[in-house]
Amino acid sequence: MRTQVGIVGAGPAGLMLSHLLHRHGIDSVVLECRSREYVEHRVRAGVLEQGSVDLLCRTGLGERLQREGMRHEGIELRFDGESHRVPLTELTGRAITVYGQQEVVKDLITARLDAGGQILFDVDDVRLDGLDTDSPVIRFRRDGREEELHCDFVAGCDGFHGVSRGSVPDGVLTTYERTYPFAWLGILAAAPPAVDELIYARTERGFALYSLRSPEISRLYLQVAPDEDIADWPDERIWAELRARLETVPGWSLNEGPILEKGITPMRSFVVEPMQWERLYLAGDAVHIVPPTGAKGMNLALADVALLGDAFAAWYGEGRTNLLANYSRTALRRVWRAQHFSWWMTSMLHRLDGEDAYEAKLQSSTLRYVATSRAYATSLAENYVGLPEV
Ligand code: APR
Ligand code: PHB
Repeated sequence: MRTQVGIVGAGPAGLMLSHLLHRHGIDSVVLECRSREYVEHRVRAGVLEQGSVDLLCRTGLGERLQREGMRHEGIELRFDGESHRVPLTELTGRAITVYGQQEVVKDLITARLDAGGQILFDVDDVRLDGLDTDSPVIRFRRDGREEELHCDFVAGCDGFHGVSRGSVPDGVLTTYERTYPFAWLGILAAAPPAVDELIYARTERGFALYSLRSPEISRLYLQVAPDEDIADWPDERIWAELRARLETVPGWSLNEGPILEKGITPMRSFVVEPMQWERLYLAGDAVHIVPPTGAKGMNLALADVALLGDAFAAWYGEGRTNLLANYSRTALRRVWRAQHFSWWMTSMLHRLDGEDAYEAKLQSSTLRYVATSRAYATSLAENYVGLPEV
């Protein structure tokens, strides 16, 4: 098989890149180790920045998003028994849209397949070769047969556990990372959300987040220990803990319902630089991870491939190499802004184990500063809705 850009991974990054390349008349093939069913139902993030919504709408993917996505013009911070609204739109002129990542993935898969695009699901043992030549080869197995995909470039969009990053020789990439002494337990519940806007709550028992997916489905998270076993969290314990952390303001209660899905996600900050080596271009979770507190993961993945789409278009269309050459440097500016914001939100809102009293006072003071200073709230808001230029 032969294509122009071989893409590893059918998450938001790989699928969106394939879609953007198609719009520029550039051919690509996406290789995915999981099934279509699996990637379309994997429950992940759910907040789209204004810039991500604009990108999806501008490229013909806005139909269902505009119908089912929920535009939010603020978020709530709950701490010390009080509620404070951060009016995102009043402060920045922009908003966020709540729309599940798997819905974005479904829309992208449909668009690619309708346009005759090739996504090969259920492939095994993907290996990258010849990345430092003009004709890289992706080898893989499909239905037990060995196959080869010859291409001009490889896009590594295969997430944190993928193979692409590891195909770069030792000594080329530098890793920057931070781990956190906690994880998130997330649930999807068949319960009408008791909120119109997301609630980020800091309490002495730990952090909690109230989010949603539709008028019937709530999405909630609890800070738990990093080695927590989900088996120790029967549904009743989850609801009791959510009540304890969220029902902290008078007269407010959450809505309960059957838990449809639950899981524990580790928290990490991670960047490797540069995001490119020879003919391999890396994007999304394959090169950077943020803790979910800033709701940035999917947005960063989409922003990376928006740059990459333009860079390949300049190369194929006009033989220009400058955008490809600058890809890593340009993308990393946004990546590091999101790294800082996600780390900052995480540090401000979580209970640290063996927390010293001094640190806890700083967290309260920071939250109160956001709640009382228009300048500081604007800083949070412009990062949260996404900075157009970084
Ligand atoms: N071969 C082929 N496909 C692979 C391989 C491999 N060796 N390893 C991983 N994959 C696939 C995964 O199954 C997944 O479908 O690559 C895809 C990567 O997709 P994501 O993990 O969704 O990563 P990305 O597209 O960068 O999107 C980032 O996902 O984890 C969230 O919070 C994160 O919202 C952010 C988004
Ligand atoms: C979600 O709805 O899944 C969600 C929302 C906000 C976050 C993280 C996750 O910060």
